[in-house]
Amino acid sequence: MKGIILAGGSGTRLYPITYAGNKHLMPIYNKPMIYYSLSILMLSKIRDILIITTPEDLHRYKKLLGDGRHIGINIEYREQAKPRGLAEAFIIGEDFIGEDSVCLILGDNILYGSGLTEFLLKAKEEVNNRGGGMVFGQYVMDPERYGVVEFDKDGDVKRIIEKPKNPPSNYAVIGLYFYDNHVIEIAKNTKPSWRGELEITDVNNEYLRKKRLNVKLLPRGTAWFDAGTHESLLETSNFIEAIENRMGLMVGCIEEIAYRNGWISKGDLLKLAESLMKTEYGRYLKRIGEEF
Ligand code: G1P
Repeated sequence: MKGIILAGGSGTRLYPITYAGNKHLMPIYNKPMIYYSLSILMLSKIRDILIITTPEDLHRYKKLLGDGRHIGINIEYREQAKPRGLAEAFIIGEDFIGEDSVCLILGDNILYGSGLTEFLLKAKEEVNNRGGGMVFGQYVMDPERYGVVEFDKDGDVKRIIEKPKNPPSNYAVIGLYFYDNHVIEIAKNTKPSWRGELEITDVNNEYLRKKRLNVKLLPRGTAWFDAGTHESLLETSNFIEAIENRMGLMVGCIEEIAYRNGWISKGDLLKLAESLMKTEYGRYLKRIGEEF
């Protein structure tokens, strides 16, 4: 399975913070936002990753993450010239995906929870074995901000509605999607919505129409954030700070995940720590590398 991180867009909902810089490079507590989505792909044991961003911001991501070799992964980059919608990721990434299945994560989505790795690996395996698509629903207080699940009277998913004025439920579809290779064809056949975008929700509804979409609720104890507004940016940072400082662990630490996945050696990790020793981040990497 290949992985795609969508880190484009103009970040208008975060103005003026994002006037001059890409949203997914903004900090969530002590790391750039994109570390968290990248770590979700790495926890899913996905090593071939495409980052899609704007032509102006591409060099910044290259500076931050390079070709990914230092953390045992392979990163490629492509441009999305205009914010033409999430589903365009599969068209831009067509060559990169090749014949494979694919996991798309939005660069502003942050997930944390115990048992999350097993949950992700199971989702990946299910899509690889059975095909179709898999998306995840989470109860939220502000569903009108998201793609929202409409259930029929038997509790089956009827359809997903993008940013409904009158939400049919409180279940938002989070920005993490697993699909088989048909997603490329489906994305290509999608027509722009009223806001001129190729909507991921239309892709999901097409899988639903074919009875090939599995909508799973996130397990209780999994926290999901979409850091797309000022409030959620701060709320997510506060959450990460509390977890990290209280539990003595780091969330979204890509070097640690690479090491624990066996993709880099202890020596590699300690070398990465060296240049970061002025920070808690660097001292944490050193601690992990020196643990038994
Ligand atoms: C996008 C999707 C929406 C999804 C949300 C999750 O919205 O269109 O269906 O619920 O991400 O973060 P956007 O953040 O692009 O407005």
